[in-house]
Amino acid sequence: MRIDIITVLPEMLNSPLSCSILKRAQDKGLADIQIHNLRDYSTNKHRRVDDYPFGGEAGMVLQVEPVDRAISTLKEQRTYDEIIYTSPDGETFNQKIANTLSLKENIIILCGHYKGIDYRIREHLITREISIGDYVLTGGELAAAVISDAIIRLIPGAIGDEQSALSDSFQDNLLAPPVYTRPAEYKGWKVPEVLLSGHEQKINEWKHSEAVERTTRLRPDLLK
Ligand code: ADE
Repeated sequence: MRIDIITVLPEMLNSPLSCSILKRAQDKGLADIQIHNLRDYSTNKHRRVDDYPFGGEAGMVLQVEPVDRAISTLKEQRTYDEIIYTSPDGETFNQKIANTLSLKENIIILCGHYKGIDYRIREHLITREISIGDYVLTGGELAAAVISDAIIRLIPGAIGDEQSALSDSFQDNLLAPPVYTRPAEYKGWKVPEVLLSGHEQKINEWKHSEAVERTTRLRPDLLK
């Protein structure tokens, strides 16, 4: 899968997308993430990509022309399944959307901008608008990194143990059960006995009942 991210702040995305599982997925050829500086598509001699809003509000608005040029250039090279815009007023991102997007071949993510983008971009170029939660970030770059991370780890082979993506919190609308590692006892704090029993069926039953208990206590909304 290929993800093209269009941003005015490429340096904000380079590091989170080039570590750990995301790095390995790219090294293995499972994912190709390309970051594009929107200023490279400006025709302005100062590489400007924003301007004052019509109607006289405060703050600068991302212009339609450089965004259209960036998206058109990418579209000339391949067909895109989705062109996503990150914005606090988009649909709220969740595991189901991550699953759906992880099955796509090519995606563009246009990072939102402090004071917004010319609405014609949203009307004519964008196919999906996504928020990562009900709070306002300084821009859409961190949201693009979150979305890319959640999608790429789901690509088969990206995570060493493929089972582990399936047993994530939220995959079956349940929070994940607790996990423990050695030592079995530390300062008198003990690992639940059943996990040391080697009895697979009992362990699975324990994991499920813990998942249900944690979900009921912490996220009852997921059980509805
Ligand atoms: N840009 C600013 N805030 C955002 C949010 N919560 N989600 C996605 N993009 C954003």
